[in-house]
Amino acid sequence: MTGKILIVYSTQSGVNAQAADVIADTLKTTYNMDVTVADLKNGSPDITPFQNIIVGGGVKSTSVYNEAVDFLGKDFTGRNVALYFCCEDEENPKAPSTEDNTKKVLAKNQSLRPIDTTAFGGCMIRQGRAVMDDLNMNRIKEWSIELGKKFNTQYQTQQWALSVDGGFVNSNTQITIHLRNIGSTTLDVVTAYVDGVLQSMNSVALSPNRFQTVTINGAGTTWANGASHTVKIVATDGTSVAYNVHS
Ligand SMILES: Cc1cc2nc3c(=O)[nH]c(=O)nc-3n(C[C@H](O)[C@H](O)[C@H](O)COP(=O)(O)O)c2cc1C
Repeated sequence: MTGKILIVYSTQSGVNAQAADVIADTLKTTYNMDVTVADLKNGSPDITPFQNIIVGGGVKSTSVYNEAVDFLGKDFTGRNVALYFCCEDEENPKAPSTEDNTKKVLAKNQSLRPIDTTAFGGCMIRQGRAVMDDLNMNRIKEWSIELGKKFNTQYQTQQWALSVDGGFVNSNTQITIHLRNIGSTTLDVVTAYVDGVLQSMNSVALSPNRFQTVTINGAGTTWANGASHTVKIVATDGTSVAYNVHS
């Protein structure tokens, strides 16, 4: 299943379908990736062949469409999942902000940790006229290119004996990650990368089913800058996990 991408979407008036096509075209033309696009109206596709899964959905009355929410109830263990919502106002989200939407759609699947979540402006048609048109194809392309990079690099090598319960940016120079060994052998967890740069970290020997906190210390870093950062933790046998922390 290495590398194969599935994009599924739920749409009522076609905007999330358009976004899915733009994402697919961008990943194909930029990275020559193997992408399949599916409308959830035609049923919930089998995810077995896919390493990377992108789920899109519109929002109505502050709720992400049910088809997308139901699809997210699946077991995605070992896969990278990214979410997008084409909805009312992505720049100035009101009640249905990206964060709220994410919380709601993930409420049914506590173990799912998307590698990226975003919202794009949607388009609202009333009586045949566009009363809101915030669809910005360039933003969708830019997001797809960044997501493709993630699929291409750290996430494809992810192994699943290591899991992250949570992670926090404590300061410009410190990130805390709560790690769990969900495999069957002890892992010597020794290395941390933040946004691809090697950083210093306290090493831990993590027994199966045990939980431990690691602290990553930067020097001259500016992690508390309002952005999200990708942390990759690696054990001596190459087992690794990647996690996004938000400052
Ligand atoms: C009746 C109606 C209610 C909507 N409610 C919300 C909402 O609560 N929050 C939001 O962000 N967008 C809302 N929208 C905007 C849609 O999410 C937006 O039009 C989106 O582009 C539709 O996607 P689709 O064409 O893929 O169905 C609403 C649109 C309609 C027509």
